[in-house]
Amino acid sequence: MTQQSEWQPRPASWWERVMVPKLIGCACAQPQIMKARSRIVPKAEGDVLELGCGGGINMAFYDPARIKSFSGVDPSAGLLDRSREAAQVIGMEADIRGGVGEAIPFASESFDTVLCTFTLCSVDDQQQVLAEMRRVLRPGGKALFLEHGSAPDEGVRKWQRRIEPVWKRIGGNCHLTRPITSAYEAAGFKVSGGDKGYMPKSPRPFSWIEWGEARI
Ligand SMILES: C[S@@+](CC[C@H](N)C(=O)[O-])C[C@H]1O[C@@H](n2cnc3c(N)ncnc32)[C@H](O)[C@@H]1O
Repeated sequence: MTQQSEWQPRPASWWERVMVPKLIGCACAQPQIMKARSRIVPKAEGDVLELGCGGGINMAFYDPARIKSFSGVDPSAGLLDRSREAAQVIGMEADIRGGVGEAIPFASESFDTVLCTFTLCSVDDQQQVLAEMRRVLRPGGKALFLEHGSAPDEGVRKWQRRIEPVWKRIGGNCHLTRPITSAYEAAGFKVSGGDKGYMPKSPRPFSWIEWGEARI
């Protein structure tokens, strides 16, 4: 069983500590992104884990009537504080821990739902994170996802490949060229109930999103 209780944050630069949380707060709260969140987050139910909960932007979209307990994991100290504040604001009791998706600091089969939004772009090892999601989900549980990533059009993908090396350095390791639905499928999930497309009013290399429900 992979569980990392002694996880320690990596030393972070000024840019990572101060600027990346501000950038995420602005970029991830655009109206078209908030609309996409409203399609997926309210489906969370039971014992819920939000992986990469940094910033707490999803908090406003949960349906408290469907949630038995709420837990979160994120490696960013600055963003963790914001998540805890966001949980307090809506009166949600929350167990929010520092950690990474590659070694989720919760026991196996603890959750009915794992929600992960705009996070698989930033992790170090996408397939390890997906394996960890499977570990902490109960049989019959579901992963809810909403991510940006590799576009279907070669012309857009060419720009994603060009921009990514610089973008990931300023954007908290955010990659533009990662697969989304197919990554869940490669990890053994069956995906349903979602869709994909370019978000309006956003540059195409940044705006291809996919969302859905992934079951073991
Ligand atoms: C673009 S932000 C998205 C935050 C939030 N999920 C949302 O939808 O607004 C990416 C998040 O992934 C977190 N993150 C980066 N590496 C991670 C890892 N290895 N495991 C879990 N979360 C990670 C960052 O700290 C940050 O909170």
